[in-house]
Amino acid sequence: MNVTYADLKEKKILITGATRGIGKALALSLATQGAHVVFNFREGKEDAANSLKDELKSAGATNATALLFDITNTAQMKEALDAFISEHGAITGLVNNAGISKDQIVLRMKEEDVAQTIDTNLKGAIMLSQVLSRSFLKAEDVSVVNISSVVGLMGNASQIAYSASKAGLIGLTKSYAKELASRNIRCNAICPGFIQTDMTDSLNEKAKEAYLSQIPLNRFGDCQEVANLVSFLLSKASSYITGEVIKIDGGIYI
Ligand code: NAI
Repeated sequence: MNVTYADLKEKKILITGATRGIGKALALSLATQGAHVVFNFREGKEDAANSLKDELKSAGATNATALLFDITNTAQMKEALDAFISEHGAITGLVNNAGISKDQIVLRMKEEDVAQTIDTNLKGAIMLSQVLSRSFLKAEDVSVVNISSVVGLMGNASQIAYSASKAGLIGLTKSYAKELASRNIRCNAICPGFIQTDMTDSLNEKAKEAYLSQIPLNRFGDCQEVANLVSFLLSKASSYITGEVIKIDGGIYI
């Protein structure tokens, strides 16, 4: 079921990591709602970015823009966004979705994996929020949604760096919400449980069965279900909600 919100039409919404998984489902969902969808891609991924742009336009996007920047490269990010804003005006929705996980038990964790996980999942979202803040202040009805995870709330064995980065996003969400609420800029986080994507497909069958046995709704989540929740938080339908952390996990963490 694809829920739609009329006010998302022609909003300019940046989604990081939209080339696959949850980000792609969300980008397509926002395109069908008529938004101007903006997404980033990394060097070497031009073909994938161009084909996503075409897909978004065919799905109904008012416009679709692909920006070349790595979420861990703040200078590249700033250059791409400054150019976009001077041409198209302020971005009015941001979804910090790009993320990686490099799971390992504590004794085998490598420092470079920890650094890369924190840089991508947490520092990237903090810097992007900062880079866009000046233009947010001049815009109306800005909504930021950070994609955290239930493991940021409940922890998970073998996911120390990933869980810490996702818990950090909750701190970012609440602080950003408090700091910018007086300017009518809202910021919320969602905590997905097990959603079927390439990221979770890489788990072995035993691990998947173990997760399934803990989910009261007895199934994994679908990307469209996450897209529906994010659309709600981006739209005026959630105009009195800020600093909130919403689980979408089939009940795995009740
Ligand atoms: P995915 O691995 O399918 O997609 C991640 C996206 O992030 C990709 O498009 C990738 O290119 C992009 N990305 C990674 N590093 C980047 C960088 N340095 N610069 C720019 N883009 C970069 O992941 P999935 O499953 O779609 O997850 C999306 C978000 O949801 C992630 O933040 C993940 O942690 C979170 N999440 C996912 C869950 C799941 O069950 N799939 C559960 C809870 C949270």
